[in-house]
Amino acid sequence: MAIKFYEDKKFFSLTTKNTEYQIKINEIGMVLHTYYGKKVGSLDMSYLIKKIDRGFSGNPYECRNERGVSADTLPQEYPTDGAGDYRVSALKTELPNGSGTCDLRYRSHEIKSGRDSLKDLPYVRAESDRVDTLKLVLEDKIAGILVILSYQVFEEKDIISRYTVIENVSGGRIVINKAASACFDIMGNDPDFIHFHGRHAMERLPERQKVGHEIHRISSKRGMSSHHNNPFVIVCDRDTGELSGNCYGIMLMYSGDHAEEIERDQAGMVRVVSGISDDHFRWNLEKGESFTTPEVMLGFSGEGLSDLSFLFHRIIRENICPKEFRNVKRPVLINNWEGTYFDFDDEKIKSMMDSAASAGIEMFVLDDGWFGKRNDDHAGLGDWTVNTDKLKCGLKGIADHATSLGMKFGLWFEPEMINEDSDLFRKHPEWVLRDPGRDPVMGRDQMVLDMSRTDVVDYLYDGISAILGSADISYIKWDFNRSLSNVYSSALPALSQGEVSHRFVLGSYALMQRLRDAFPNVMIEGCSGGGGRFDAGIMFYSPQIWCSDNTEAINRLKIQKGTSYGYPVSTMGSHVSAAPNHQSGREVPFMTRAIVAMSGTFGYELDPRKLTDDERAMIRGQIDVFNRYYDLVHKGRVLRLSDDDDEKYYTSWGFVSEDKSEALLNLVVTDVRANPEIICVRIGNLDPDAVYEVDEFITSVQDAPDDASFEKKGAKGERFTGSALMNAGYAFDPLFGVYPSVMIHFRKI
Ligand code: DGJ
Repeated sequence: MAIKFYEDKKFFSLTTKNTEYQIKINEIGMVLHTYYGKKVGSLDMSYLIKKIDRGFSGNPYECRNERGVSADTLPQEYPTDGAGDYRVSALKTELPNGSGTCDLRYRSHEIKSGRDSLKDLPYVRAESDRVDTLKLVLEDKIAGILVILSYQVFEEKDIISRYTVIENVSGGRIVINKAASACFDIMGNDPDFIHFHGRHAMERLPERQKVGHEIHRISSKRGMSSHHNNPFVIVCDRDTGELSGNCYGIMLMYSGDHAEEIERDQAGMVRVVSGISDDHFRWNLEKGESFTTPEVMLGFSGEGLSDLSFLFHRIIRENICPKEFRNVKRPVLINNWEGTYFDFDDEKIKSMMDSAASAGIEMFVLDDGWFGKRNDDHAGLGDWTVNTDKLKCGLKGIADHATSLGMKFGLWFEPEMINEDSDLFRKHPEWVLRDPGRDPVMGRDQMVLDMSRTDVVDYLYDGISAILGSADISYIKWDFNRSLSNVYSSALPALSQGEVSHRFVLGSYALMQRLRDAFPNVMIEGCSGGGGRFDAGIMFYSPQIWCSDNTEAINRLKIQKGTSYGYPVSTMGSHVSAAPNHQSGREVPFMTRAIVAMSGTFGYELDPRKLTDDERAMIRGQIDVFNRYYDLVHKGRVLRLSDDDDEKYYTSWGFVSEDKSEALLNLVVTDVRANPEIICVRIGNLDPDAVYEVDEFITSVQDAPDDASFEKKGAKGERFTGSALMNAGYAFDPLFGVYPSVMIHFRKI
């Protein structure tokens, strides 16, 4: 059992392969967080707590003469509001008498093997892993509140997941104004934190800063995890880098409003609270009811950020993404969006399919515009019937054409959205989120369906499943193209409007799960104007997500790197698009575009008929390379080999297989210089005693006529010891031309 309770000292030790997490019940039943980090041999870590009498930090009544005992200074597992802890709290409640105080004490616990699944929310699946669970029951007898803290220990995966259940055992209604999934306090250091901010078409950019004494709040109140602030944060020692140092990852599995709060308190302790944002949240808990928070994953590595990333990548791939797509190579697809936008008919699509199939592409995805009166983005959302003016041969005719060419077929939907100009809106204006008597805020000229209503979810399920049943469809691109506003449901009373944001997310999850159950082999690629709903919650249903609407390779280097801190390559939708690029106007060589897109799910997003013969011929080779290194790239350890300073000049990254038998090294020079400085990168995680040989060397430079000789200078056949590559590094030959790139494969001999 990975969980032990030491009765005499009243502490719990939760151990994974390399980490230990400790919880202590103190003399008055407060549940304290005493340690998380490298294993410490189950020594009671509460020795770290110094009971210092700090002015203005009051004491629980029972300890009124022991002034060193204060909720305000002790490290807590689940801090509440009103009872003397003035730091960020995890729980805020309101009792029928108006009291906002909740004061929890240990009541009981249960340790068991296996885990409970969550009914309406995504969670980390046990699969074939050994998982042990600790349920800690806390109570506030006066309020009639039980809080069950549930810890799932994934021993081999070095991950602990947590969620919380709040139960009303009082005689009346309790209102929950905040219910975080987890809190933990880190003692005794002066750390940094890294969060991932961004905007549409430039998502998940890492920002590292010192944890100051203010409260840092990373959050979204857009009804989605958002392009702007991802629900993943890292807290790490000041000297932690890619290959060394202590770091914690806190990743919320939720696709709606969220908040990660980080506070450094008066004693220097750092508190992290993660969960649903309390901005639009007010949940009524009637007598006898309970509320379950989303799950959050905690990971710790003492070996630096790259190892921390690996822990999250592995658990997302193996325990969160649907099993149907886990060990199956995903098809290389072509999507028509940037090739046609709304301007297509069946003849055009079929001829694009012919061209794509002849280049070796494995799946064709028909994007927005195939349904209702959808000829631009002002109409049609909500009407999930085929537009036969455009697709005269019907959807089946289109899908059959793909199948006849040996390709799979995929289709775009945007289920949660509705246009004012749609039959659905004309029939059911009450189905949209909007405040009574007020025009709603519009986004892309569309409104948002009220997913808290079961009739809306039923309508969408019926419409989408009818389409999926009507043709051979293997894939859905599930889009979501605006932030929520006017979050008001006409189906709920005034008192319940604070529940709508969360009920909306539950409605979306319910729809996805019903479709998954009915069509388990249809892969859902999540999307929200690119990567606006890129989180571990949605990955429970969709194993890949369109990473960004920005398909430009040089910008993508930053987006994909930022995404890689938390999320595996296998989840990152990434395509080669046309040049000049539609978002930035930049011209990047075809091979460089491919090298960047190959560090994702890989595909194309262009009109293949407009490619030159040379480019079309290159597609086949690119697909071969991608397929050859699929396991290495999708399951290996990601190496981020350049930092912010380097990236003014170049970006380098790579992958090492888990057994260290092969590695892939990539470089794109983004600011080519005359008489250049040498680029040399140290490749971590190799076997120091092994010899590695370069057995493939691919470069974009053949695209640049002046440097056609470069390829011959490639290092194919060169040998290095692992320890040389790790300690001295690999020195690239200079690259010239326009955004030149190389991809080098090393095999252990
Ligand atoms: C936003 C997506 O990210 C694009 O790829 C495309 O599907 C459009 N929506 C279609 O409206």
